[in-house]
Amino acid sequence: MTRLHNFGAGPGVLPLEVIKACKKNLEELGSSGLGLMETSHRSPVFQAIVDEADARLRRLLGIPDDYSVLFLQGGASLQFHMSALNLLDRGEHAEIIVTGTWSQKAYSEIDKLGEVRAIWDGAQEGFTRVPDHSEYSVSEDAAYIHYTSNNTIYGTQFHEMPDSRGRPMVVDASSDITGARLDVSAHDVVYAGAQKNLGPSGVTVVILSPWALEKGREGLPSMLDYKVHESKGSLFNTPNTYGIFVLKEVLGWIERGGGVQTAIDRNAAKASLLYGHLDSSDFWAPRALKSSRSVMNATWRISDHGLEAAFLEGAEERGLMGLKGHRSVGGIRASMYNALELSSVEALVAWMTEFESMHS
Ligand SMILES: Cc1ncc(COP(=O)(O)O)c(C=O)c1O
Repeated sequence: MTRLHNFGAGPGVLPLEVIKACKKNLEELGSSGLGLMETSHRSPVFQAIVDEADARLRRLLGIPDDYSVLFLQGGASLQFHMSALNLLDRGEHAEIIVTGTWSQKAYSEIDKLGEVRAIWDGAQEGFTRVPDHSEYSVSEDAAYIHYTSNNTIYGTQFHEMPDSRGRPMVVDASSDITGARLDVSAHDVVYAGAQKNLGPSGVTVVILSPWALEKGREGLPSMLDYKVHESKGSLFNTPNTYGIFVLKEVLGWIERGGGVQTAIDRNAAKASLLYGHLDSSDFWAPRALKSSRSVMNATWRISDHGLEAAFLEGAEERGLMGLKGHRSVGGIRASMYNALELSSVEALVAWMTEFESMHS
């Protein structure tokens, strides 16, 4: 079997050695005599998997000891709502930096529960950048501020964390967790769907500061209550056992490869190769402003938009998959998550070079 180059935005590329470990453990988890998906979440063997996933994530991200780590379901989309449900009391308001579709969605989910104010909104500029500190102000009485660290659809990324002026901070880190710098101790909630840099879809990592855990309102539905999940060690109900196993394996792969800093360096090398090529000629039109460009998701147009379909078709013929831009913005997008090899970006750049010479 030939594995193709996977530039998909998520579910995204996984390391081959992780896939091999899944395959082996599907039939028999370790030497337990039972397959991975047949193993009880209450068994000691599965508890060891949860504990190891937790320990690896804590080591990789430098999570403070008094923070909680949860493995939940419902995707990052549930966290738009669940974080507000837990953190926003009656009469309080949240503030949000709107840098793309995912923060717009977070805005509207918070808005259903209470008051939310956009303190910066890039919609008018077509979400081509993220703001710098001087462009927004945070109210002294904001319950918390929310931002999206990497905008998967528009291809922008915060290279410096927003300044919350001391207010609690919530980040949706779905598309750059473990692939970019993240100071967990500066945040109160970090959440991320796993299906880009951490594993498969169906498991969501939620990291909570002691403040965020305590803030939880009384009487919430159990499944939406951080305290309930924390008190049960993410095993309040049947979790995505398979997803947590894969997550543990992906985290092990990152650790063996040298940790988050090595992943960041590898991602920088891939991004610099691709953006360097995009900047080399007017044939290509990168979408994001240079200072805000995402290392994880590069987005661009071909200046002659009419050539894009042929570019994408030719890409697939060469095994370069998942390059079509998000349906809401069109164009081209290359997602370069941790597990994408530099050789995949080299193959993409080779096709771009060939395509450009055919059409100029
Ligand atoms: C930054 C970001 N936030 C949230 C989501 C939604 O995630 P989910 O599908 O896990 O709910 C995505 C999905 O691509 C995303 O990229």
